[in-house]
Amino acid sequence: MNTTDTPDDTVAQVRSALQTVIDPDLGRDLVSLGMIKDIVVDDAQVSFTVVLTTPACPMKELLERQCREAALTVPGISDVQIKMTAKVVSKRPMGGALLPDVKHVIAVASGKGGVGKSTVCANLAIALAQAGAAVGVMDADVYGPTIPMLMGVEDEVLEQTTYEGPDGNPIKKLLPVHRHGVSIVSMGFLIEPGQPVVWRGPMLGKVVNQFLADVAWGPLDYLLVDLPPGTGDVTMSLCEAIPLTGAVIVTTPQDIAASIAVKSLRAFQRFNVPILGIVENMAYFIAPDTRKHYQIFGHGGGQAAAEELKVPFLGELPLDMPMRRAGDEGEPILMTHPDSEQSVFIKEIAGKLARQISIESRKFRPLNVV
Ligand SMILES: Nc1ncnc2c1ncn2[C@@H]1O[C@H](COP(=O)(O)OP(=O)(O)OP(=O)(O)O)[C@@H](O)[C@H]1O
Ligand SMILES: [Mg+2]
Repeated sequence: MNTTDTPDDTVAQVRSALQTVIDPDLGRDLVSLGMIKDIVVDDAQVSFTVVLTTPACPMKELLERQCREAALTVPGISDVQIKMTAKVVSKRPMGGALLPDVKHVIAVASGKGGVGKSTVCANLAIALAQAGAAVGVMDADVYGPTIPMLMGVEDEVLEQTTYEGPDGNPIKKLLPVHRHGVSIVSMGFLIEPGQPVVWRGPMLGKVVNQFLADVAWGPLDYLLVDLPPGTGDVTMSLCEAIPLTGAVIVTTPQDIAASIAVKSLRAFQRFNVPILGIVENMAYFIAPDTRKHYQIFGHGGGQAAAEELKVPFLGELPLDMPMRRAGDEGEPILMTHPDSEQSVFIKEIAGKLARQISIESRKFRPLNVV
């Protein structure tokens, strides 16, 4: 600060210094994106808040460092206090009329069964919740709901709540089950364990709608929907029922080689649902004894397919025994082995997904983080 500068002048100088910090995804500076709040100068100290578009932002540390360096270029400033916060932005009340308090609904899908969709969905939900986001999982696999087992809530039942609607009439809603910081609803809570479920097409649409409309989800940043394999009635009902922010396609190397994943990708694109990215699961095998990596089906297929299809590649997960065991025991790997290689990969994928969601949201309207 020059001796003639007032604190207000210094605030302006800090603001213009921060204009040199560019959000690499959005391609604009943090000030004009409305991400810098509450700049306060007190002698040689400046404090301000950075409001990121997601708490799971993988560039949090980088942006914080760049903001600090930029602020320190202002003459007279030697101490920079930064509060990093996040507010998930959404281009509209994403859930539309059915889910007005849910900012983003994300489908987790695959071309064929058994690729690890539910495992990936459950772990991504926990990773986003651990980063500080409000997260829900809707298990829409009405034929074989596995989310309750994966999340360790198999014995739970959905409770009901009644509250007064705007017209004074009582409204009844189902309450999600909470586990590992995530709100969960599954068909598994409504049927007897081991009972087969036989659904006909039109009924499926009703189930999907019921899980959207008749559940008191509360305010959520991300609602992840675990879909049954393929692109059948449930997927179509979901795409018709609510505006989705996008879909994540879970694949395996064989699935990519056989182009099965492409079919599900195209199905979403037909509904104008953006593809947020591909996750390649079981990409390679880690021997439990030696931890040696075996690229059984070759390497790089998922990345190459994503490039060819011009969709983001969110990352790959190896075939890993502890992950399978954790799923079977209802304690997801992020809870049992939070520092394992697999958990680090999952957190990275969750960060990339959150980042992709922010990018999608920005495509429609300017950020408003008041
Ligand atoms: N990366 C992995 N490493 C080891 N085991 C895994 C991995 N991913 C998933 N599994 C295991 O593979 C099996 C199938 O996974 P999951 O149920 O998540 O697949 P899905 O695609 O949801 O199947 P479905 O199509 O039947 O819904 C489970 O036993 C799970 O624990
Ligand atoms: Mg599944």
